[in-house]
Amino acid sequence: MTLYVDCCARKNSATRKLAQALLDQLGEHESLYLYNEDLRPIDEERLAQRDLLIGSGSYDAPMFRYARQWANADTIVIAAPFWDLSFPSLLKTYVENIYVTGLVSRYGEDGTPVGLCKAERLYFVTTAGGKLDERFGYGYIKTLATDCFGIKEVHLIKAEMMDVDGFDREEILNSAIEKIKSGNF
Ligand SMILES: Cc1cc2nc3c(=O)[nH]c(=O)nc-3n(C[C@H](O)[C@H](O)[C@H](O)COP(=O)(O)O)c2cc1C
Repeated sequence: MTLYVDCCARKNSATRKLAQALLDQLGEHESLYLYNEDLRPIDEERLAQRDLLIGSGSYDAPMFRYARQWANADTIVIAAPFWDLSFPSLLKTYVENIYVTGLVSRYGEDGTPVGLCKAERLYFVTTAGGKLDERFGYGYIKTLATDCFGIKEVHLIKAEMMDVDGFDREEILNSAIEKIKSGNF
C-alpha cells in the first residue's frame, strides 16, 4: 500500500495539487493529513513512555501507530511546501513520532543505523517560492530514508520559482503536473 503523508497547510496548496497528480499515477493509497492528527513533539514524559514501551518490546502500543504505518508501507509519498529553507515543522514532529528504534530502524554493531522499513521508494513532493535549496528539507528526508530507514530509492518532485515576479505560478505548476502525467517522475 502507498502511504501519502500530506503536510500542506493551505486548502488550495500547490504542493498538494502536484502530489495528487503523482498519486493519480501511483493508484490506491492511504492518506495521512498531518494537520488533522494529534501530533506533538516528543517531550520528557513521552520520551520516558516511549523508552519503557521499547524496553518491553511493546511495539503494538497506540503511540507507535504512525511508526508501524510508515514501516509497513510499500511506497511513501510526502507532500510538503518549502518553508524557511526546509519544510513545515509539523513534518519534523511527524519524523520524531515515526522514528522508533526497533520498528523503522535498529542500530548495527558499529552504531550505524540499519533500516527496517518495507518501502522500496519514497517520493518527496514540494513547491518553492524561489529556487529550491535541497539541503535541509529534501536532503534531510532523503538521508533519513536511505541511511536510517533502508528505503532504497528517493525521488524529488518539485515546482519552483512559484512566487517570483515575472513567473507564472499556475503555468509552472501545470507544467510540473503535465510532466508527471506523461510518466516522467
Ligand atoms: C511560512 C512560509 C515560509 C516560506 N519559506 C520559503 C523559503 O524559505 N524559500 C522559498 O523559496 N519560498 C518560501 N515560501 C514560499 C512557498 O514555498 C511557496 O509559496 C509554495 O509554493 C507554497 O506551497 P503551497 O501552495 O503548497 O502552500 C514560504 C511560504 C510560507 C507560507
